[in-house]
Amino acid sequence: MDKFIVYNSKLKGDVTISGAKNAALPILSATLLTDKLCVLKNVPDLLDIRTMLKILQTLGKEISFKQGTVVIKSTGKREKYTAPYSLVRTMRASFCCLGPLLAKNRKAKVALPGGCVIGPRPVDLHIKGLMKLGADIKINKGYCIASAKKLKGAHIYLGGQFGSSVLATANVMMAAVLSKGITIIEHAACEPEIIALGIALKKMGANIEGEGTPIITINGVDCLNGLDETVIPDRIEAATFLAAALVTRSDITIKKVNFKHLTAVLEAMENMGAVFNIKEDSIGIKSPKVITPVSVTTLPYPGFPTDVQAQLMSCLCFAKGISMITEKIYPDRFMHIAELNRMGAGIQRSGPYAIIEGRRRLFGAEVMASDLRASAALVIAGLAAEDKTEILRVYHIDRGYEYIETKLRHLGAKVKRVKQK
Ligand code: UD1
Repeated sequence: MDKFIVYNSKLKGDVTISGAKNAALPILSATLLTDKLCVLKNVPDLLDIRTMLKILQTLGKEISFKQGTVVIKSTGKREKYTAPYSLVRTMRASFCCLGPLLAKNRKAKVALPGGCVIGPRPVDLHIKGLMKLGADIKINKGYCIASAKKLKGAHIYLGGQFGSSVLATANVMMAAVLSKGITIIEHAACEPEIIALGIALKKMGANIEGEGTPIITINGVDCLNGLDETVIPDRIEAATFLAAALVTRSDITIKKVNFKHLTAVLEAMENMGAVFNIKEDSIGIKSPKVITPVSVTTLPYPGFPTDVQAQLMSCLCFAKGISMITEKIYPDRFMHIAELNRMGAGIQRSGPYAIIEGRRRLFGAEVMASDLRASAALVIAGLAAEDKTEILRVYHIDRGYEYIETKLRHLGAKVKRVKQK
């Protein structure tokens, strides 16, 4: 297992943002809807992507992945329909194979992903949506076993306790494109990754309207064609680099981004004193000398993303005054608080609220990465803390950030990866 050693740094220059993992994963599973050739470009080389490619192979696809391009062919062998627990448990997004497998083969067996460190992550909305389309779904020995003689369009309300669900919307969309008749998904997720999935499915011949709005209408077709598509830029990686600049009071430029996907993040950082120079596909950030405290609430898109909550918190540890973060998507997604406090931060949590008392200095310590975005937050804090920060268990970060230490070093950060015994 690797660890990162991070020192106080100043950043400068520019960094190119990779393709979005969270856009690539559902599109990769959508290739199960066709036997034709599919090509996906700008795919980040990440552990989660490799896991999804293994699942596709297990399900009978032939895969090549070179220089950011994934080529997927059908092997022509009898179709398989089981996504095993050994792969699904390492990445919840594998559950979005269920919809396309069911729609294409009329049967699917996908391991239930179980809980994870950011809290309970149920799949009831996925199951409800697919049952509305006519699927018969049973849970047996940790597997979700779905079958259907035929799938039929339906009117589906997909809102849950915490609002819309990104992957449930993706799963139901993918099943509905091959269902007979019209499906209307109400309270659909509006995330850019859902728009990207809709665009990809339409390129394959699906009939979809309204992706990116809370009401998506799908008119089912008999079969889908192949795909040649490019993955959208990773808005979460972009926000992470902006946070790294802000916390180190640096000026950098992030390239190959879509600023329209980052409105809530840019707004929060502007309120913290950052000044942005926004161009068609790049964002320059000029950081303030003193960070102003803010109150931020995570919400489904276009609200402030939960996937940037931890990174923003690291920045707010250095603000002049008291900030508050309210986590409305995953109320327990606060594992990073204890680690940041070990570095001298002043954060108190009560339920879904975190009160952050800004401090002038944090001190490097040995800390433990608990999940993907929390790991990024600890790296960010380490870049602004005094002395040396050692972040253990950084395999989490490799699930979601392509070449992170190379990119940070390119910006002048003092970061190195060390093999842990
Ligand atoms: C996706 C992202 C993840 C991000 C999350 C929220 C991918 C691969 N992952 O995850 O990085 O943090 O969106 O923006 O795209 N819920 C239910 N029942 C369900 C499904 C979800 O109650 O059946 C709840 C969840 O527990 C959570 C909320 O709905 O409280 C939103 O979760 P959801 O949008 O489904 O997250 P994912 O799609 O799994």
